[in-house]
Amino acid sequence: MEEGFLTQDELSSPLLTPISYTMASKYTGREITEEHILQAADLFSKHYGIWGPRHPRAGQRVQTSPAMLKRNYLPDGAEHTLVQAHIGYVLVGHAIATRWSTKKSAESQPSRVCWITQLCVRRGYRAQGVATSILRKMAEESDDMYGILSSHPAAIMAALRAFANGPETDTDALLSMTWQATNIMTPSPISYVKSAAPDPGSTVRSVDTNFDVDHGEHQAVLDELSRLGRTWWLGDLKRKHEYILIIPTLRQTPTNSSAPTSQGEGRG
Ligand SMILES: CC(C)(COP(=O)(O)OP(=O)(O)OC[C@H]1O[C@@H](n2cnc3c(N)ncnc32)[C@H](O)[C@@H]1OP(=O)(O)O)[C@@H](O)C(=O)NCCC(=O)NCCS
Repeated sequence: MEEGFLTQDELSSPLLTPISYTMASKYTGREITEEHILQAADLFSKHYGIWGPRHPRAGQRVQTSPAMLKRNYLPDGAEHTLVQAHIGYVLVGHAIATRWSTKKSAESQPSRVCWITQLCVRRGYRAQGVATSILRKMAEESDDMYGILSSHPAAIMAALRAFANGPETDTDALLSMTWQATNIMTPSPISYVKSAAPDPGSTVRSVDTNFDVDHGEHQAVLDELSRLGRTWWLGDLKRKHEYILIIPTLRQTPTNSSAPTSQGEGRG
């Protein structure tokens, strides 16, 4: 399904310098074709990032083949969605999400998790609201919460903008969601999400995912945020770590009032 992509509000945002009319397309399950996977692997391999200075392939692009992308992010038997953004004929960004259900206890109602496993915007089209718009397109009425693991502060900020109240979102509420992260992440059909689940009952800002991507670009974003006097509450990031963010949908309030607040343990 295709529709007009930038809303009037987004077009008037000081963040944006709209280059031309952008289109977002959303594909779920069998609608995701081999051609889409090829395009996603190509965008990722050319625009994602580079390996860190201590990685054996330091300075080289982090790349994926279509087969590896399918294995890691689109495994059979799970519910996946792809959103692509185009400007004219140019694919300028994409996101992949996987949805699953989780329960706090055997008696409780299941909650629907939408986890963003891939988010990439072509260089030259960044900091213009593309990622935020892609994530807004990803959101669905039936979602109870959104999750993302990322070392890129702009990815975290895009999720906060798309799924919550931007940087003004109540950080204590978000940290209390990571307190429940074990329950939320362990049933994930995506193995890197499942294995990154933090210890039960801890509030964390980042987790060790063993992903040795270079953090130079990420630090530049943090420096820019600091220069602009903007809020960044997730701290610095250790090598091979990624920030973790779990956002309840705006219609919900966090369910565990006894969860620790931001004074709790943090690894970020
Ligand atoms: C992370 C990424 C997807 C962000 O895409 P983007 O289209 O530039 O993001 P947006 O323009 O929607 O910006 C999102 C937020 O980050 C902020 N931001 C973006 N780039 C920034 C920069 N260089 N400096 C400071 N803030 C920045 C924006 O201001 C916005 O916040 P706001 O709404 O509170 O103002 C893009 O940088 C990318 O593809 N990076 C490489 C791949 C990657 O690391 N992906 C994340 C893995 S899940």
